[in-house]
Amino acid sequence: MSGSHRIGRTSSALQLDRRLRWALYAAFTVLFVTGVIWLAAQAWKDSPAGDLWEAVSANMLMIHGGAAMLTLVLLGALIPIHVQRAWRGRRNRLTGSIMATVNGFFVVTAFGLYYAGSDTLRAWISDLHIAIGLALPAVLIVHIRIGRCRSRASAGVESIKSADRARKPAPTSSP
Ligand code: HEM
Ligand code: HEM
Repeated sequence: MSGSHRIGRTSSALQLDRRLRWALYAAFTVLFVTGVIWLAAQAWKDSPAGDLWEAVSANMLMIHGGAAMLTLVLLGALIPIHVQRAWRGRRNRLTGSIMATVNGFFVVTAFGLYYAGSDTLRAWISDLHIAIGLALPAVLIVHIRIGRCRSRASAGVESIKSADRARKPAPTSSP
């Protein structure tokens, strides 16, 4: 499979459909922003406006949980059309594996946040979830930039090869 063919309105077989790409960006942005506001609200909950921050905190967690459910649907959709294709095509495997691991950690730690029995374990899981969450924008940006650069580079190599093939004289049949 080549990543350089034009598929529909996308310019590479691995490039995502525009709606799916923006849905993913929106979902990750909501997760990140609600997570960060929740952290700030927790820090300010003992301030004079503590009641307000308690309410903000509860609402952020509700929106975060809802966005998390939508994100899991989008990640599921990504497996056959992005992850498997890119893996088989040996494209961007290093940062792709990091992305898959990061998202796997989100799923496992999210489960732990709901169901961890002990408070100590839950605190560890929460710290891990938050640390990966704060790193997510950087990891995603690096993944996309490297993936696009490599796709463009291999599309360039493909077009040089096909230009070479076109220039070569047709094999002459021996008398
Ligand atoms: C499961 C987590 C993953 C997420 C959320 C994710 C997300 C993305 C997004 C949003 C893009 C930009 C797509 C575009 O420009 O249309 C991208 C590009 C790319 N990703 Fe992933 N990805 C994931 C896993 C992987 C894996 C495991 C691989 C490789 C085995 C991979 C390989 C690539 C490649 C090659 C590109 C560049 C596509 C191109 O523009 O030609 N991704 N990824
Ligand atoms: C696929 C990605 C993610 C999933 C599935 C996910 C899921 C969840 C779930 C289910 C909870 C528990 C909600 C509750 O107790 O009602 C949670 C809490 C939280 N998440 Fe995420 N999340 C994701 C990404 C992120 C990101 C990017 C951040 C960025 C900072 C983040 C920060 C937080 C914080 C601060 C909490 C509260 C922790 C606590 O209650 O101790 N999450 N997340």
